[in-house]
Parts: sequence; C-alpha cells; structure tokens
Amino acid sequence: MESSRIPGFYKLPPEERLKVIEEMTGLSGDDVAQLTAGLGVEQADRMVENVIGTFQVPLGIATNFIIDGRELAIPMATEEPSVIAAASNGARMAREGGGFVTSSTGPIMRAQIQATGIADPFAARQEILAHKDELTKMANDKDPMLVKFGGGVKDIEVYVIDSRVGPMVVTHLIVDCRDAMGANAVNTMAEALAPRIEQITGGRVYLRIISNLADLRLSRAKAVFKAEEIGGPEVVDGIIQAAALAEVDPYRAATHNKGIMNGATAVVMATGNDTRAVEAGAHSFASKSGMYKSLTRYEKNKEGDLVGTIEMPVAVGLVGGATRVHPVAKTAVKILGVKSADELSRIIASVGLAQNFAALRALASEGIQRGHMSLHAKNVAVQAGAKCDLVEIIAARMAAERRISVDRATELIKELDKS
Ligand code: MEV
Repeated sequence: MESSRIPGFYKLPPEERLKVIEEMTGLSGDDVAQLTAGLGVEQADRMVENVIGTFQVPLGIATNFIIDGRELAIPMATEEPSVIAAASNGARMAREGGGFVTSSTGPIMRAQIQATGIADPFAARQEILAHKDELTKMANDKDPMLVKFGGGVKDIEVYVIDSRVGPMVVTHLIVDCRDAMGANAVNTMAEALAPRIEQITGGRVYLRIISNLADLRLSRAKAVFKAEEIGGPEVVDGIIQAAALAEVDPYRAATHNKGIMNGATAVVMATGNDTRAVEAGAHSFASKSGMYKSLTRYEKNKEGDLVGTIEMPVAVGLVGGATRVHPVAKTAVKILGVKSADELSRIIASVGLAQNFAALRALASEGIQRGHMSLHAKNVAVQAGAKCDLVEIIAARMAAERRISVDRATELIKELDKS
C-alpha cells in the first residue's frame, strides 16, 4: 500500500475520501458498493432476533499508521467525536520512530468446565489430568476443520477452586482457535466433554463455557514517540506522570483504559467482531493482579524519547461471527488487508496504543476539550437545525466565542439567515 500519511484527508468530502481509500487499498467496485449500501434489513434479520431495522454508526478511516513496517488505513466504527482524529494523530507521531512493532501469543482461548459436589477434589483433579489424551481427542473430534488448520486443544489445566458453596474442580481446555474468535468452537468442545468429566470425577458439571479472560491470547505493540515530534521533553515527562497514576490508581486506570478501548473497540466493531468479548478480556486482564491497572506503559529511553507499550487480550476472528456476513465489516477487513485473526488482533492493540498516547499527550499539555470542541460544536449546530455550509460556519463561530449551545446556534442561524 502507498503511504497512509494522507495530508488533507480530513478536509475531503466523504465520497472523495472513499476514492482515496479505494485507490490506496485496491478495493473493487463491489467492495465499495457493499460499503455504501451497508447492512440491509433482510440480512440483519438473519443475524439476530426480532429485527425491526438497523442501527448505523459512523465509519471513518484513521490515517498515518505504520504497523510492522506496513502502511495501513484503519477502519473505525464509533459514535464518539475526536476518536478517529486522535488515533490518526497518535499514529502520525509514531511514524518518525518507525511506527508500531507488534507481537502476540497466538490465538489461544480457554473454555471452563465446572465440576461440583466432589468429596476429594484434588484426587479428581489428578484423574482428569490422567485422562488428558482421551479428553483432548474427544474435544478435537468435534472440530476436525480447526485441527486440519493447525488449531485444536493444546493443553488441559485443572484447578481446584474453593467457593462459598464448596470446592469445585474446574477444567480449562486450552484451544488454538486459528482465525476464529473461538467461542463457538470452544463451547462445543466443553459441552462435549462435560459428561465424561462427570464420569471421571463423580461430580456434577454445571458451567461449560469460554472464558473471556483471554490471557493466553495477548497482543502487544510498541512505539517510540520522538521527543521533538510530540512537543519536547516536557511533554514526554508529562505523559509519563499521567501514565504513572493509571498504574497505581483504579479511578484513573478506568478512564485511561476507556481511552484505549475508544480505539480498540472501534476497530473490533468495524470488522464485525464481538466488542463485549474484547472489552471483558481487556478489563479482566487489567485487574488480573488483584488491582485494576492500566494496559499501557510509558518510559523514557536513553535518547529522551517516549516509549509506549501495550499488552492486552484481543479475541477477534476473521471467520464466523458477523465478520463474513456484514457487508461493511467485510469491506473493512479488505481495507486492512489482514490475512489472519492474529494480525488483526495486533493491529487492534496498536490502535489502542495510538489512541491512548494521543489522549495522554493532550491531557499532559493543552487538555482534550479544545480538540473536542470543534466537532461538538458541529453536532450542536446540527441539533439547532443548521444545514449545509451553515454547520461549519456556526460551529466555527461558537468554538471561537467558546459559547457552544443550541440556544447560541439558533441565534446564529437566525442572524445568518437574515444576512
Ligand atoms: C474520552 O473518551 C477518553 C479519555 O478520557 C481518555 C483518557 O482520559 O485517557 C480522554
């Protein structure tokens, strides 16, 4: 792909932007048609129950991303103003340092099988482990395709967990899900194993379901933000101070991680993946130590530049779910040009880092409100009934006056209509 640095992209009208992306990513006419047509009610009716319509969210492109040496245009679906601009801005500032460098643990998920009512839970644990090969084969027989592509059960772990209602023996199936998010695959396997676990342990199985704490499916990204690119050594220090609070204070960590998820969730959504699964994974992983902490870290390297890193579970797929069904999601995947779910997960982590960096930079310098204001002003102008060019004019006036309200926009519409 050509450079994802596209100066003035934000000033183009949507059709022109789409043309740029079409040329840049080699989208076909059909892809573009799918993107513009969006999700039809008929299709929606096959996706969920009791459909009466579809709910649309803006889809934008974050520019400037280099991830593992590849120039990328990133589709983001979000209702929040400033998110896409901030991600693009964060990615621009990472370019001088080479962009984002990623790694991952691979697409490994866990399913839990909860056996209860066992008098000798530690002995039961050993019995289950002694049947590891048999259980692995039983589970893999449920998904020969997954096994054919190199996935399937990789290990079985068993935990004795003491609870309010007595000890439980909880078996974890550790499954390589390849390009699937994996919920269907691992849930089917867990359900299939439950009767055998009951026989082996003499206990009663209740839960047999995926764990969204996908701590074996971690994606990592790193970026070096050159001090002179981001506003100098004071900004480097400011970001480190801001990030340090999120490492030790859950009140700040929640907002810090919310900012990460502004970026991550928007890509998860745009690619038709399960936003709640990724959110649950991120937040549970953030509290795995017993205290809720931030998912990113910032340090100053020997050169005085800022080094940002992120590590988080990102359980997304390219097969199954809405990704292969939703016409816009299908096009979003093509825009990214990803070949595996693992690659997509590493892109999502990079966007999370870019988003977080951009928020911290704004917070550590001018604050975020100035950036937010111009889009907020446009929304308010539209609410007040402004149309076409008037939206921009009124928004600019209100932002300059720092008086952004529907009342003021209404006054301005009247004033400008007269003139
Ligand atoms: C707003 O949606 C996200 C921020 O609050 C994140 C942060 O404070 O780091 C700006």
